Order: sequence, then structure tokens, then C-alpha cells
Amino acid sequence: MNSNHTREKPLRRTTGTVLRLVVGLIWLVWIEARAVTVQVTVDHQILGRSWDGSAAEWSLSPTQRVSVSRLEYLLSDFVLIDSGGVEHSLGRQTAFVSATSGRTAFELKSVPTGMYTGLRFRIGLPTELNHLNPASVAPGDPLHPLVNGLHWNWQGGYVFMALEGAWTGPDGRRRGFSHHLATDAMQMNVRLGGEFDFRADAAVRLRFALDRCWAESSGITLSEETASTHSRAGDVVAQQLGRAIVEAITRDRSPERAPVAQVSGKPGSKKLTVEVAATAAPFRFRMSGLFPQPKLPRDNPLTEEGVALGRRLFDEPRLSGNNRQSCAGCHQSDSGFADSGRPVSVGAEGRNGTRNAMALVNLAWSSEFFWDGRASSLREQVLRPIQNPEEMNAALPAVVENLAASGYSEAFERAFGPGGITADRMARALEQFLLTQVSYGSRFDAVMNGTAQFTAEEQRGFELFNTERDPRRGQFGADCFHCHGGALFTDFQFHNNGLDGVTGSDDAGRAAVTGRASDRLKFKTPSLRNVAVTGPYMHDGRFQTLEQAVAHYSSGVHASPTLDPNLARHPEGGLQLSADDQRALVAFLRTLTDPRYAAAARESVAHPVTATLAEMIQKEP
Ligand code: HEC
Ligand code: HEC
Repeated sequence: MNSNHTREKPLRRTTGTVLRLVVGLIWLVWIEARAVTVQVTVDHQILGRSWDGSAAEWSLSPTQRVSVSRLEYLLSDFVLIDSGGVEHSLGRQTAFVSATSGRTAFELKSVPTGMYTGLRFRIGLPTELNHLNPASVAPGDPLHPLVNGLHWNWQGGYVFMALEGAWTGPDGRRRGFSHHLATDAMQMNVRLGGEFDFRADAAVRLRFALDRCWAESSGITLSEETASTHSRAGDVVAQQLGRAIVEAITRDRSPERAPVAQVSGKPGSKKLTVEVAATAAPFRFRMSGLFPQPKLPRDNPLTEEGVALGRRLFDEPRLSGNNRQSCAGCHQSDSGFADSGRPVSVGAEGRNGTRNAMALVNLAWSSEFFWDGRASSLREQVLRPIQNPEEMNAALPAVVENLAASGYSEAFERAFGPGGITADRMARALEQFLLTQVSYGSRFDAVMNGTAQFTAEEQRGFELFNTERDPRRGQFGADCFHCHGGALFTDFQFHNNGLDGVTGSDDAGRAAVTGRASDRLKFKTPSLRNVAVTGPYMHDGRFQTLEQAVAHYSSGVHASPTLDPNLARHPEGGLQLSADDQRALVAFLRTLTDPRYAAAARESVAHPVTATLAEMIQKEP
């Protein structure tokens, strides 16, 4: 009977569906038109004054001074409450706020217009977002590990709030503190009352009174006992801090002042020039499923021809003033592209540099280059060693001419189309080649994929590496993951890891680029992938062996004002690891060597350039 019924009215049914669709569409368009954008700004304050993220120190009490070197957090679950008490969720919108890098504003989109009487949000993430695969997050999203730097855990999950700095107690000694709030159980909901007029695009200002975190009312006074928390179950410091933070955030309804914050992450409107030959074949970029998505340059699409040309140029001594030094001369493929055995580089003219040639690996995830981060793109970076008198000591027009005379024109046109050889195209080809040097074929990766197993000693090292040192909770890990965490084994940030004290080094590191005293002695965290073959170690190549590098963290750490809080909260000198634990760490670091990376790179020298890395990489699981 039913089938009869339906057969009789096919036309009317279709009309009905179409009608519903149209009505639905109109409704959607109407809702969209009736949605507004709300800009939220957070004014971080200490003792009633706006704080711009700089390294100033405050006296919280006659006996306690505090400075903050990092305050970053994730917000989610925004809900508006109307006068009838009805809640309006804003869906999967998240925000990343970094007081220390000036990212203190964000936008709530598609907010239904109206008047509201309350706004609620969560510091942290709901369970499903907290455990999503970081590789599924688009570049630029607040949850992308490289946007927020708060995703460190192998178990999955984000640190919702990182609050780090230094404190000086009654004894006058300066020590680090590091508060990390994380885990699903750590729920922090902030509720703000009052009228919210969202009938048109609007702005909401919040005030975050940071000193409340250590005010007497919070119950936390900074001491050795409370200097670190990682939110393990039952951690009292984390709970107290969570409560204090919720109270510290209020709505700022004082008359509008000049805006102090800017919305970050808006794509620049700079016009992009793309150069690519019509016949060039797209290069398939391959990587580990454990990696976040890289941010590849939109104006330099990877092609087989471009990558192959870049590889050829990397090995080409004609890029140097005396035709004797190639990039590969200092970045040797079988040493993870570091300079095997040489503490500091020696240039084409035999001159000594001051820094150790960096290993080149997984650069597609990096956005600041050199030990001090002075170059902000690979394309900009690669032309510098060519022109540097301490390195390849050549003038670009001469190099271009030299390449043209050596029959390179055709390879350039195959990659970039008519127009021949230019310095910009040279940089583009080298950028493409470097971007495709992805390493993820180590034994560590095999263990993660379930196709190999750690030895007991490696397993111990792995655990030490990824466990915090938290004596209060009886945990004595080595805390390496704070800076070398995640599958890329670096946070791509700049830190002072205690190589030198107040005196002892002429190399100011990051401070020479930013001009900020608070960046003195900070250097880019190197990835530890392939670290067993990239020695000597550190920016000046001071350590010959991994054993020495690990011993540094155990007993060689020098105190100084910029020493990273995560190291400054350890006992003087360092972690004081047992000999067995140091050996275990080294054993673990040795599992990060990727034989395929070395082999692929070696092959590139022996093979014709068309035997591309792509073919080798695509065979991987
Ligand atoms: C004379 C030795 C030498 C030569 C030749 C050389 N480099 Fe380097 N490279 C270095 C040193 C030293 C550093 C670190 C410099 C610093 O931090 O100031 C470095 C850093 C880099 C980095 C930064 C990596 C990172 O993680 O930030 C890249 C990329 C790089 N080199 C690529 C190249 C390319 C491409 C060439 C050839 C055009 C080249 N290098 C030639 C010694 C050299
Ligand atoms: C506070 C951040 C931080 C922590 C924690 C940290 N590192 Fe480092 N690590 C760095 C930085 C920054 C460098 C480079 C410093 C320089 O050259 O001036 C570095 C360099 C290294 C190097 C040399 C790599 C190379 O290519 O030169 C090794 C090895 C290393 N760390 C291992 C470890 C181990 C093992 C741990 C745990 C015991 C650890 N790190 C903890 C930041 C950190």
C-alpha cells in the first residue's frame, strides 16, 4: 500500500523537497546575514598594569619577585546565554592566545545576532578536540601544533596553558617555574555576566590579572615545591592554579583605550608570484602520519623538475666564488646534512666561521632559519651562504653567468618556464629541494608504527626523554620533550639551554636579531632526528659526542637570567642523572637515525638527477 501511495505522487514529493531545500537555503542565507563577528581582546595585567609580554620583574611581596617568560593558552567551547537562559553554542571555534608573542586577540565568527546576558568559554579543549590527530589540522589553525607549540604528548592531548618564568625567593636565588595545565580532567570554565550587545559586529575585552595566580587567595606561593606542575591526576598545584586563573579572567568594561593587541594569523595581502613551467610534474610530498601538516610556500609549488634542479645546485661548486665549495661541502648528506666532525664551518677561502653547520632535516616545518632565526624563509636563506665571504664568497650575477655557461639554462626552463637563469629561480630550486628532505624512517618511527621494538635500555631512554622531572610527585624524568618534543623532535623555538653563564660567550644568539636582552644566549632548538650522525653538537660545536651533550643537561647547565625556566627549576648544574640513565638517553637518541635518509641523500650524488627522492620516499608505508 505504501509503495502505491508513493508512486502516485512523485511530482508532488519532488516539489516538496525542492521547496524545503529552497526554504532551507533562504533560512541559511538569512542566518548567515544575521550573524556577526565578535573580536575578543585579552588585556594581560600584572598588579593592575597592562603587560605586553616583556620580561619585566614584579615584586609580588617584600620577599618574592616574579617574571614571566611565557604565557600561552587555548580557548574553546564558546557559548552565549540569552536572557531566557537559553545557551547558544558557537560550535568548533577555538582560539590560541600568546601573551608573550603579542597574539592577544581573536575573532568569534558566525555569532547569531542578538542581545545576550552571558558568555562562557573553556580554557582548554573538549575531549574530542584534545585527542584529535594533530596531523589532521590545517596549517594556520589555532590547534596546529606549530601555531600553538602546546602539543607535546605522545599520548595525544594538548597543554591548555603554559605559564613559565622565574622567581626569586627570600634567599635571593633566582629559579625557574613552569606551570603546565593539561589533561581532560582539568576543566576550567570561565563565565562572564553582563550585557553583550551582538546586534552588529562587536568587540569584547577581557582582563587577565596574572598576579592572582600567586596571590594569597590562590593558595600558591612560588617555592621549590610549587615551581612546576604538569597536571597529573590529583595534582594540587594544578587544581589551585586552575581555580585562580578562572577567577583572574574578568570582563573589562572600562572605556575603550587605544587597542594594544593585533589579530594575528591574518594572511598577508602581499601579491604572490608563481613561477612554474607548464610541463613540470607536481612533486608528491611524503611524510610521517605522526607529523603535523607543513606550511609549504604557495608561490613556489614543488615540482619534480624544481626539486631535481635544487638537488643538483646543492652539490654544485660553481655556486662559490672559487668554484670549489658547494652547499654539500658543509652539509654532508651522510651526516644528516651537517658538517661531519667539524665544530665550526670552514669557508671556500679556508676562513673559519663561528658556528656549527646545522643539520638540514624536516625544514618544511620550520619558519625561522639559522641558529639565531635571522632568516624567515628558506628562499631568503639559501642565497646568503653563497654571498657570505666566510662561506661561498660569490656574487650572484657571476654565479648566474657561471651556471649559464655550464649548460644549466635548460634545467631552469624545465622547472620554471621561459626566462632562463635568475638568482630568484636558484633560490626557488634550492628551497624546493630542502623542503623535500623529510626524515621519518628511523627505528623510532618503526617502533611507533608497531613494526619494531625498543630494547629495554632504549625504552628507558624514551621514557626519560618524555617524562617531566617533578620531585614533588616522585617523578625523575629528563624533561627533554619540553623543547625537543613531538615527532619532529623540536619546538622550532629559541631557548637558552645553559651552555654559558652570564660571561663565557660572545655569541648573543637570538638577541642579535631581536635586540631584546631577554633573548640573549637563546638559539634555535635543533631537531634530534639523525642526531647520532650530525655531531659535533650545539651552535658552536663544543661537544664531540652525544654522551657529552647529555652530560651537559645532567651537570653542566650554567645559570643566567635567560636560562630556560624548564631547566632553571632543576637543581643547580642540571638534572643529576645517574650514569645508567644518561646511557639510556643516548641509546634512545641513537634510534632517531634514519638510514634511508642518509641513503637517499647519498644516492642523489651518485645517480643522475632524475632519480628523484620522490620515487624513493613513495615506497614507504
Ligand atoms: C662554509 C660552510 C657552509 C656552506 C658552504 C653552506 N652552509 Fe648552510 N649553514 C652553515 C652554517 C655554519 C649554518 C648556521 C649558520 C648560523 O646560524 O649563523 C648553516 C645553516 C643553514 C641552514 C639553516 C637550517 C636551519 O635549520 O635553520 C640552511 C637551510 C642552510 N644552511 C642551507 C645551505 C645551502 C642551501 C647552502 C648552499 C647554497 C649552504 N647552506 C651552504 C654552513 C654552511
Ligand atoms: C629548554 C629547552 C631544551 C630542553 C629542555 C632540552 N634541550 Fe636540547 N637543545 C636545546 C637548544 C636550544 C639546543 C641548541 C643550543 C645551542 O646550540 O646553543 C639544544 C641542543 C641539543 C643537542 C645538540 C643537537 C645538535 O644538533 O647540535 C642535543 C643532543 C640535545 N639538545 C639533547 C637534549 C636532551 C637529551 C635533553 C633532555 C635531557 C634536552 N636536549 C633538553 C633546547 C633544549
